[in-house]
Amino acid sequence: MMSSKKADRVPLIAVRNLVKQFDAQTVLNGVDLDLVEGDLRVIMGPSGCGKSTLLRCFNRLVEPTSGSIVFKGQNIMDADVDVRALRQSIGFVFQQFALYRHLDVMANITLALRKLKGMSRAVAEEKAMHELERFDMAMHREKYPAQLSGGQMQRVAIARALAMDPAILVLDEPTSALDPVMSREVGDLIQTLHQDQITMVLVTHDLTLAEHIAPEVTFLDQGRIMATDSIANLSAEHQPVAIRSFFGARA
Ligand SMILES: Nc1ncnc2c1ncn2[C@@H]1O[C@H](COP(=O)(O)OP(=O)(O)O)[C@@H](O)[C@H]1O
Ligand SMILES: [Mg+2]
Repeated sequence: MMSSKKADRVPLIAVRNLVKQFDAQTVLNGVDLDLVEGDLRVIMGPSGCGKSTLLRCFNRLVEPTSGSIVFKGQNIMDADVDVRALRQSIGFVFQQFALYRHLDVMANITLALRKLKGMSRAVAEEKAMHELERFDMAMHREKYPAQLSGGQMQRVAIARALAMDPAILVLDEPTSALDPVMSREVGDLIQTLHQDQITMVLVTHDLTLAEHIAPEVTFLDQGRIMATDSIANLSAEHQPVAIRSFFGARA
């Protein structure tokens, strides 16, 4: 098997038979998913199929109805789980950067380091500079979000998440608000992080981005994982129409 080496390794996070119902609606309908350290898992699927809900279960922004998510050996749904610590271990980046508008870049990155990790200003700023330099953003450290391009804002949002040293970085449509050039920039950045062995799970609508950063993608439809394969294979004629039409539907 192609990925037998990975299959032998203990997953960092293991999702089993995950179900989420909102009232009568079943949004996740038995999802199984493993991430091992260093993985870059790309998830795609139609609008409303449950992608964001799945990601939000990872740090208990959404409480699953049933199933389990074992992270570092513990089911995160257990009553004694420290949700605050969990949220520090699983960094989130959203489509809309969610930067604090009244804080400059440096303060945006250092805020959680100081408040949640208890770092001194000097230590937090040193850590922030390390991330900003890696993202080529150090010269913008005194700017406010309104003075940055969308691509720069997203780089700051990713730098801010990574400064917390999360075990997993979760990115929910990080390029949806960006033009193609900026998307490409963020795609390059994600590839760099992947080379640095950062474990990531990313949801995107962007087939070009997906193809650029990962050899295969996971297709979610109606709350179920239907396939994990290359986009070329997923758009091939032998596929069920629901899969083929999604991956074949490009200009
Ligand atoms: N908090 C919520 N309450 C009720 N329904 C929700 C909630 N969050 C999401 N949903 C519903 O769950 C479905 C999947 O949503 P979502 O996970 O955001 O889809 P995706 O990210 O794939 O577009 C949608 O029908 C959405 O309306
Ligand atoms: Mg979504």
